[in-house]
Amino acid sequence: MNCITVHNLSFSYPGHIEVFNDLNFSVVNGEKAGITGPNGSGKSTLLLLLMGLLKKESGSINLWGKSVETPDDFRKARLKTGFLFQDPDDQLFLPTVEEDIAFALLNRGISRENAREKVDTLCETFRIGHLKKRIPFHLSWGQKRLVSLAGVLVTEPDLLMLDEPTAGVDDRVIETILAYIEGFSGTMLISSHDKAFLDSICTSRYRLLNNRLEKC
Ligand SMILES: Nc1ncnc2c1ncn2[C@@H]1O[C@H](COP(=O)(O)OP(=O)(O)O)[C@@H](O)[C@H]1O
Ligand SMILES: [Mg+2]
Repeated sequence: MNCITVHNLSFSYPGHIEVFNDLNFSVVNGEKAGITGPNGSGKSTLLLLLMGLLKKESGSINLWGKSVETPDDFRKARLKTGFLFQDPDDQLFLPTVEEDIAFALLNRGISRENAREKVDTLCETFRIGHLKKRIPFHLSWGQKRLVSLAGVLVTEPDLLMLDEPTAGVDDRVIETILAYIEGFSGTMLISSHDKAFLDSICTSRYRLLNNRLEKC
């Protein structure tokens, strides 16, 4: 069964900047799909549309076999999805790292105690325990990346959408990310220019070029 089905999706930014015109593609449950493509080809836009953070012009988006149309449909789908923004500064907004990582859990009604336990475990795995009381805004790019990823993974989502997770981070951070998501059993859609990274985790690869997404 498909996790993601996109049919005839069209979208333009204001000012007639057309990004998609009748785009079609699908990702089956459990697939780890990598998307490559030149800068400006629409990778981030596609992920934002799938999350309902941008509004499509026409066409349909199905997640887990259900059409997602209304803000409420997207809100429900987001509860099962972990989305990593390309820029961690779009993701991190609370006064401390630990609050930021716990945010999605508390938002889902999980108790503070339970949330703290999950945050602590993930901080240990990601070797960011020493950053828990720090202000996210003042961290380095690689540290921000790990913190934002921890905030995405902490809810154990069924679907992971990661926008350029390895851009601008060092090998140690990449290894840490890899070690965790290699064991992830859900569905993944990753936009990245990092071929080695995609090779090591993806089961399929797509290239976004001239409005089309083609398997490669
Ligand atoms: N907020 C925006 N307003 C107007 N145009 C945008 C905006 N964000 C992206 N674009 C344009 O949309 C196209 C696709 O961008 P993007 O999805 O960021 O590509 P990629 O992630 O593949 O680099 C580009 O032409 C880009 O300039
Ligand atoms: Mg992008």
